Amino acid sequence: MGVGIVVAIDGPSGSGKSSVSRAVAHELGLAYLDTGAMYRAATVWCLQRGEDLTDQHAVAHAVRVMPLVMGLDPAEPGVEVEGRDVTDAIRTTEVTAAVSAVATNLEVRAELRRRQRAVVEAESGPGATFSGGRGVVAEGRDITTVVAPDADARILLTASEEARLRRRSLEVHGAADEKAVEATKDQVLRRDRDDATVSQFLVAADGVVTVDSSDLDFDQTVQAVLGVVTQMTGREQAPAPSTLGE
Ligand code: DC
Repeated sequence: MGVGIVVAIDGPSGSGKSSVSRAVAHELGLAYLDTGAMYRAATVWCLQRGEDLTDQHAVAHAVRVMPLVMGLDPAEPGVEVEGRDVTDAIRTTEVTAAVSAVATNLEVRAELRRRQRAVVEAESGPGATFSGGRGVVAEGRDITTVVAPDADARILLTASEEARLRRRSLEVHGAADEKAVEATKDQVLRRDRDDATVSQFLVAADGVVTVDSSDLDFDQTVQAVLGVVTQMTGREQAPAPSTLGE
C-alpha cells in the first residue's frame, strides 16, 4: 500500500453503499471505485458477445479480455467497455437480473479482484491517475475481506431488510407501496442470497466497523462513515481541494 488512504466499504443491496461511498470519496478528495459496476460491465460485455452465462470458462475467458476502463471521479463515475460508454447500460433490469451469474463465477472474481487491487494500489501511491495519491474509497461485497483486507478503514454498511427494500423500491419504481416493494424483492433479496454464496457481506469480519443506516438519513450516514474513517485512520481527513475555502 502507498501513502494515500484506502477506505473499504461493503454491504448488501439497498444499504446506500454506492451513494454514501461516492459522497465520502468526494468529501475527502479520494478516487471512487464501484466494484459492483465492474461485475455489471462484465455482464453487459458477455451478453453483447452472446456468451452463455452458465458456461463458466467461456465467461471467464471473455472477462479476461474485456477492455474495461473505470472512471474514478466520485462526481461522475463513468464506465467504458471497448471505448463505449456503458454507464447507463449496466443499470438496466436485464443486467441487474443477470449479474449474479457472472459475479458468482470464481474465475471471473479472480480476474476482477486483480484489476480492483491494481486500482487500489495505484490510487494510494505515486501511480495515481485520479486522486494524486491521496487514496481511494472502494466499495462492493468483498472489499473489506478479500480485495483490500489491509485497508486503513474497513466498514460494513448495513440496513434492515425493510429499509433496504423501501429504498430500492423508491429508486426503481418511484414508490414504496406494497406492490412496488413486492416487485423489488427479487432484485434485493434473491440477488443478495446468490451473492452471499461467494462473499461474506452480511456480518462484519474482524476489524470491520458496522454502520447501520436503517434509522439514518443520507447525510447522517455519510457523517457516520466519515467519523469511522477519522477514527480508524487516526487523523482528520483534509477536505477535498474543490471544497477548500468554501
Ligand atoms: O452493488 P451492485 O448491485 O452494483 O453489484 C452488482 C453485482 O455484483 C451484485 O450481484 C453483487 C456483485 N458484487 C460482488 O459479487 N462483489 C463485489 N465486490 C461487488 C459486487
